[in-house]
Amino acid sequence: MNVENAVSFKDSVSQLRQRVDRHLEQYLAQAATAPQLYDAMHYSTFNGGKRLRPVLVYASCEALGGDLAAADPAAAAVECIHAYSLIHDDLPAMDDDDLRRGKPTCHIAFDEPTAILAGDALQALAFEILASPSSVVAAEQQLQMLQSLAFAAGDKGMVAGQSIDICAVQAETDLQGLERMHGLKTGALIRASVRMGALAANADAATLEKLDLYASAIGLAFQVQDDILDIESDTETLGKPQGSDLEADKATYPALLGLEMAKQKAEELHQQALAALDGMHQAKLLRQLADYVVQRNH
Ligand code: IPE
Ligand code: IPE
Ligand code: MG
Ligand code: MG
Ligand code: MG
Repeated sequence: MNVENAVSFKDSVSQLRQRVDRHLEQYLAQAATAPQLYDAMHYSTFNGGKRLRPVLVYASCEALGGDLAAADPAAAAVECIHAYSLIHDDLPAMDDDDLRRGKPTCHIAFDEPTAILAGDALQALAFEILASPSSVVAAEQQLQMLQSLAFAAGDKGMVAGQSIDICAVQAETDLQGLERMHGLKTGALIRASVRMGALAANADAATLEKLDLYASAIGLAFQVQDDILDIESDTETLGKPQGSDLEADKATYPALLGLEMAKQKAEELHQQALAALDGMHQAKLLRQLADYVVQRNH
């Protein structure tokens, strides 16, 4: 990315982050009935996430000339699912990590029961947001978005990937199994983000399919890069413990392929993502996001 491009990318992303943050604040205010629960939900939603998934929702909508207002609920909803997935991922019963986004994880800042409940409540809130009456999103689109997010979040998506991950034994995992696991635990929500943004712009079936190729490629690339950063980065930059995968003997791309081949894999996926956008003239931000996914350092 050249300097000019990098500046415009930073600006666009920062505006979209602010946009989703405004909506998240509003929706979270509705969760204020139990103070400790609200504090934990708020803490884990506003502790410095990159907001990649909401930005993808908006970028996909924008690429098709849609109205960003129709993408607002989906952008907030997918971030709620993501925040919940990280709270539970960090729990002692799962990855047992103490640091997230440079701060204590939810169960450390609060306690385990509160962290479990904050995750549960964020998951329900995501669907409440998507299902709420809207003057900008037609009921049929809302239903399609609900279906996309539910499919991606549960036993056919992220949760399935997490289950395969915790059951995986590194020595017995082959590349195909690893790709499947990554596609589910990380790829599914990224695909749903792109799809919901496209649905907000009334995309036709052929466009949805093209964008799904893009999303599958960056979704996998994102987790490959996450695995690379676990080795190459440092705890301060990452905001989460470097070496966590190594310590837990996780099945990862670098563990299976070696670091160089893992980097090559990320670059191949990057190129596949860009190729899927061929002919889409308004997809600048989606292209920049594909670059970002493999160039990011945290
Ligand atoms: C971390 O996701 C978990 C993975 C799926 C690898 P992000 O790197 O998008 O996390 P935040 O939201 O920016 O902290
Ligand atoms: C978790 O993958 C992905 C989800 C939470 C669905 P990781 O366990 O690799 O994520 P980090 O490294 O803790 O962010
Ligand atoms: Mg994990
Ligand atoms: Mg983890
Ligand atoms: Mg990781």
